[in-house]
Amino acid sequence: MGFISTMSIIVTGGAGFIGANFVLDWLAQRDEPVINLDKLTYAGNLENLASLQGDARHIFVQGDIGDAALVDGLLAKHRPRAVINFAAESHVDRSINGPSEFIQTNIVGTFYLLESVRAYWETLEGETKAGFRYLHVSTDEVYGSLTKDAPAFSETSRYEPNSPYSASKAASDHLVRAYHHTYGLPVLTTNCSNNYGPYHFPEKLIPLCILNAVAGKTLPIYGDGRQIRDWLYVKDHCSAICLVLESGRVGETYNIGGWNEKANLDVVETLCAILDELKPRIDGRSYKSQIAFVKDRPGHDRRYAINAGKLALELGWKPQETFETGINKTVVWYLENQRWVTNVTSGTYRNWIGKQYGI
Ligand code: NAD
Ligand code: TYD
Repeated sequence: MGFISTMSIIVTGGAGFIGANFVLDWLAQRDEPVINLDKLTYAGNLENLASLQGDARHIFVQGDIGDAALVDGLLAKHRPRAVINFAAESHVDRSINGPSEFIQTNIVGTFYLLESVRAYWETLEGETKAGFRYLHVSTDEVYGSLTKDAPAFSETSRYEPNSPYSASKAASDHLVRAYHHTYGLPVLTTNCSNNYGPYHFPEKLIPLCILNAVAGKTLPIYGDGRQIRDWLYVKDHCSAICLVLESGRVGETYNIGGWNEKANLDVVETLCAILDELKPRIDGRSYKSQIAFVKDRPGHDRRYAINAGKLALELGWKPQETFETGINKTVVWYLENQRWVTNVTSGTYRNWIGKQYGI
C-alpha cells in the first residue's frame, strides 16, 4: 500500500472543450499517462482526442463522476498521483432551461467524486500521500456580477452566484473546500474566466458566431450586447492548471484570467472583421450585417473580470496569448477543421465512439 510505481493522473471531463485541450497539451509535454473519465454527454466529443488514438498514454473510460463503484475501481487500479475534475454541465442557458442535470453532475457528482478520492487518499502513505492532489476546475461566475467600475474578482471576493450553473459550481467549490478543512484532503481550486479556442462546442458565443457567420445565419446578441466577459485562450488556462497542480499551495484557490475584458458586441464584431479578411462574403458585405439583437438571457450577469495577481505573483504564471493573437488562431482553427465542424453541427460526432472504439 502507498507505493505508486508509475505515476499517472485521472482527468474527468477530458472529452469536453477544456478537458480535451488539457489532455492534448499534457501528453504533448510529458509521458505521464492520463486516465480520462468522461460520461460523453452532448458536450463530450471523442473526436477532440482523435489524435491520441492508439496512444497507450491515454486511457479513455466512459462513465459518470458520480458512479462511486466505477471511480473507486479506477483509483484502485491506476493509483493516480492526482485527480483533476473538469467534468460538469457548463452552459448557462441550458441551466436556465433545465437545472436538474447541473445539480446532479456539478454538485452530487462532485460530492461522490470527493468521497471516492478521500477514501483512496486515506489508503496512501508517506510521500505518495503527501504528494497527492485533487484539483477542482471552477469558474469566475461563482462571484456573481460586477458593476462597471468595480475591481476585478479576487480569491476573497464574496460568492454571489446568479444562475443555476454558477450556483451549482459554487456549491461544488464549497464541498471541495470543506473536504480540505474537515478531512485534510489536499485540494486545489481554480476559478477561471471565459475560455475560447479549439474544440469549443458551438453553443457558446464565440464558436457559435464563427460557425453561424460562415453558414450565413444570424449572429444572436443577447440584450444590448454590452455585457462584459474576461476572455482567456484555452491553452493558457491549461498551462495555469498544470502550474497550480505542481506548485500551488494545498487548500488554496487561484483565480485565472487573461486581463482581457471585452463587451460581447465587440467580440462578435472582431470575429466578423477577421472573417471579412480570411473568408469574405460573396456579396462583399461585412459579416457584421448578420448581427441580430435578440431577447436577453434571464438574470444575465453584466460583467465578469478576474484579478489573476495571486497566480502571477506566487507561481509566476502569465498567459502566452493576447486576445488578438488567440482570437485569430481560433477563427483559423474553425476554418481549417471542417470535418470536426461538420460532425459537430450535424450531430454525427455522437456516433464517433461506436465507429472508432467499437463500444
Ligand atoms: P464542456 O461542457 O465542454 O465539457 C464538459 C465535459 O464533462 C464533457 O466532455 C462531458 O461529457 C463531461 N461530463 C459531464 N457530466 C459528466 C459526468 N457526470 N461525469 C463525467 N463526465 C461528465 O465544459 P468545458 O467548457 O470544457 O468546462 C470544463 C470545466 O471548466 C467545467 O467544470 C466548467 O465549469 C469549467 N470552466 C469552464 C469555463 C469556460 O469558459 N468554458 C471557464 C471556467 C471554468
Ligand atoms: P457564453 O459563451 O454562453 O458563456 P457564459 O454565459 O458562461 O459567459 O456567453 C458569453 C456571453 O455572450 C454571455 O454574456 C452571453 C452572451 N451570448 C450572446 O449574446 N448570444 C449568444 O448566442 C450566446 C450563446 C451568448
